[in-house]
Amino acid sequence: MEEYHLSPLLSREQIDSTVKDLAERISRDYRGKELILVCILKGAFIFLSDLVRQLKIPVKIDFVRLASYGSGMESSGRIEITKDVELPLEGRDVLIIEDIVDTGRTLLFLRDRLVLANPRSVKICALLDKKARREVEIEVDYLGREVEDVFVVGYGIDFNENYRSLPEIYYVTPVHPKD
Ligand code: IMP
Ligand code: MG
Repeated sequence: MEEYHLSPLLSREQIDSTVKDLAERISRDYRGKELILVCILKGAFIFLSDLVRQLKIPVKIDFVRLASYGSGMESSGRIEITKDVELPLEGRDVLIIEDIVDTGRTLLFLRDRLVLANPRSVKICALLDKKARREVEIEVDYLGREVEDVFVVGYGIDFNENYRSLPEIYYVTPVHPKD
């Protein structure tokens, strides 16, 4: 069995100030609008919960769960929705809340799907972005931080369902036993 090492990437303080900056921008841009946040489960649940408590405008919250049939560090690119939005989106301003963007396929799939409900607008907010790995064209309207091409965990983000509960963000590297 392979062993992994976690190295610190973002501290509590760095995450807090990133989330606060995003909340300020969103609060400013959506003042007077009817904003619905659509959080992608599971990875974005902690980001969402911190973000909404920093917002200065009223919002409604909904969740989707997507399955991409991959495990470990690679996703298959084949995406399915396993839990759909429940709120009516027609005529509303929708903001997708995502933990981390990699190839961009997840967000492209979800955005195209939400647009079918005739919302007034659909934009994207992501805490982290691995821009170097993008495979499809998708713009993140509210980005927390760009990160290197590393596999990250913590603050809701998992590796095979582990490490979601860590308060900070780490990157994972395999430990090669001495031979
Ligand atoms: P994409 O569809 O390739 O952009 O992948 C995005 C999804 O893969 C996100 O919703 C994450 O759940 C997951 N993901 C991408 N990079 C990482 C990572 O470094 N750690 C954990 N999950 C990741
Ligand atoms: Mg995930």
